Amino acid sequence: MQAQPMDKQRNILVTAALPYANGSIHLGHLVGYIQADIWTRFQKMRGHQCTFVCGDDSHGTPIMIKAEQLGITPEEMILQVHQEHHADFNDFAVSFDNFYTTHSPENQALAEQVYRALIERDDIAVRTIKQFFDPQKQMFLPDRYVKGVCPRCKTADQYGDSCEACGATYAPTELINPTSTLSGATPVEKESEHFFFKLPKYEEALKRWTQSDHLQPQVKNKLDEWFETGLKEWDISRDAPYFGFQIPGNPGKFFYVWLDAPIGYIASFKNYCERNKQLRFEDYWNKDSEAELYHFIGKDIIYFHALFWPAMLQGADFRTPTAIFANGFLTIGGHKMSKSRGTFITARQYLEHLHPEYLRYYFAAKLNSHIEDIDLNFDDFLQRINSDLVGKVVNIASRCSRFINKNFANKLSVSLPENHLFEQFTLAGNSIAALFEAREFNQAIREIMALADKANQYIDQEKPWQSIKDPEQQLHTHEVCSLGINLFRILMTYLKPILPNLAMDIEAFLNIAPMTWENRLQPLQSHSIKPFKPLLQRITEAQINGVKQLAEQAKPQATSTTSPKKTKPETLAETIQIDDFSKVDLRIAKILSAEHVEGADKLLKIQVDLGTETRQIFAGIKSAYEPEQLVGKLTVVVANLAPRKMRFGMSEGMILCAGDNSGLWIVSPDSGAKPGMQVK
Ligand code: 2FM
Ligand code: ZN
Repeated sequence: MQAQPMDKQRNILVTAALPYANGSIHLGHLVGYIQADIWTRFQKMRGHQCTFVCGDDSHGTPIMIKAEQLGITPEEMILQVHQEHHADFNDFAVSFDNFYTTHSPENQALAEQVYRALIERDDIAVRTIKQFFDPQKQMFLPDRYVKGVCPRCKTADQYGDSCEACGATYAPTELINPTSTLSGATPVEKESEHFFFKLPKYEEALKRWTQSDHLQPQVKNKLDEWFETGLKEWDISRDAPYFGFQIPGNPGKFFYVWLDAPIGYIASFKNYCERNKQLRFEDYWNKDSEAELYHFIGKDIIYFHALFWPAMLQGADFRTPTAIFANGFLTIGGHKMSKSRGTFITARQYLEHLHPEYLRYYFAAKLNSHIEDIDLNFDDFLQRINSDLVGKVVNIASRCSRFINKNFANKLSVSLPENHLFEQFTLAGNSIAALFEAREFNQAIREIMALADKANQYIDQEKPWQSIKDPEQQLHTHEVCSLGINLFRILMTYLKPILPNLAMDIEAFLNIAPMTWENRLQPLQSHSIKPFKPLLQRITEAQINGVKQLAEQAKPQATSTTSPKKTKPETLAETIQIDDFSKVDLRIAKILSAEHVEGADKLLKIQVDLGTETRQIFAGIKSAYEPEQLVGKLTVVVANLAPRKMRFGMSEGMILCAGDNSGLWIVSPDSGAKPGMQVK
């Protein structure tokens, strides 16, 4: 068996989901960007023509509102955020060929082109719809900007699209006592004309597209479910005031942000082509394009990428994606990234404590081709960096180079020892390449580390630190250390897509041209290297404790545009009399057990001791607590609330919580209080 020659050069365009331009990049975002970056760098190292584009997703109501809160124009804000994002990606070695913005002339022209093509095919329907309108702000309100009492379970303070307590979904107009989260005003229903993309017309074409090899099995199953429920027409317009592109010929109407966001992929590439004449835009986007097109996305935006996007592309006579690669979410220490829990770490905060390539390595060691959530566990993190990366890989260079530097005038031997290690290491590049190609990065790392173990065993066995003392063994020692350096170089070739900056430092140390998959096959012989300098430091306990603390204490920060931030505290409820209050029987309760509820995103099932009896309560606090954290805690319960039948069983009371958009905290008495005591 021999190392395989490279396949023919491929033309590949890779995109990563466009981050919203109103918040910081956090570690959860970085999973997808690092995954796409590793894959792209790998393709480039294989000699393919691979272009990686991204940009900020700069339009929409949340961006407009955030800028207003900051007292600047949306244009100013998206520019500032663009610079911040650019610096974050740069520091994590996420190396886009172009990081652009959806607020660009190219994107406007392309969005209009797509829209006109859809009009031409009679794919746009115009209908009048009724929506909530904030009379004070003089604007229509997206669902998430309306709050009120759930029409089903009557829980207060629920968003306009779904109830966090009972899981019901509804129209915002069904809420009881709705209020606008922007002004506190009561919204009124108002009619307006909207434009709809006739997605159902594309059902057959989409079914054909999903049957071929474009999607991960889990995504395909999800799509089959959506086909079963039936495709619906998609509202692609929004009314002024809106930060976005005006719909041609329709003053006061704008393209919905999700229409022009994916078109931003095309626009970013177009903008790049204008500066890079060797790429021809048409070769990548024409209907008959033979280039490959891949979208790396998070699992939460599959609907947009696997249904609307290929349909829009077909309608506008562009090519469709070769594949969509969805990744899971990041949990930290087993917890969801949650603002209330403080497990929310921005890219910048992380950099204050640790090297960016540690995170790239850790994510790679966890990532595979499936849509699985990955967990960042800091003890595991320390272990993998210190024992694998520093202890196994970098150690090979340090063990061998000191003799090459000191005893052999920095020069590697003319020939290598007669064993098969060099061939074995180069040959492994075939299977490792196949694993990178298939996005099975965790398995690739396992293979690379198994090779690193072999190299270390070889050095242990040959003991150059002993043989160097024997003048008769000089040649042998020279060859052993030279082979060690060669093996190290091959390992670093395989790790280069993951650790690009470390690889660059190593290229300087080894005094070699940039490592590629192909040039690993040529051994370094009679070659001068540079003096060894420590290449990567072990992580110290102090550093890891620093990020652990960050995970515990990080303060809430704005990042998501899907959850609008409150500008004012909730308006106080109307005055009541003492008699009204005394109707509420509040009791101290001890939490006896808490567990997750299958099928419920927000709820925990809790048993409480009320002094005289035990009650079962379903509480919407899953985002804020792990069940085991609650057991044994004292809290306050509304004990005379009428039992409610919920989808998951009876709820016999209510646990009092403090909270707003930044989190939830159960209310607890001071020490000394006992279960059953009345709260008055
Ligand atoms: O969900 C998000 O964060 C979006 N900004 C992703 C857009 S990806 C593409 F379609 F533009
Ligand atoms: Zn409800």
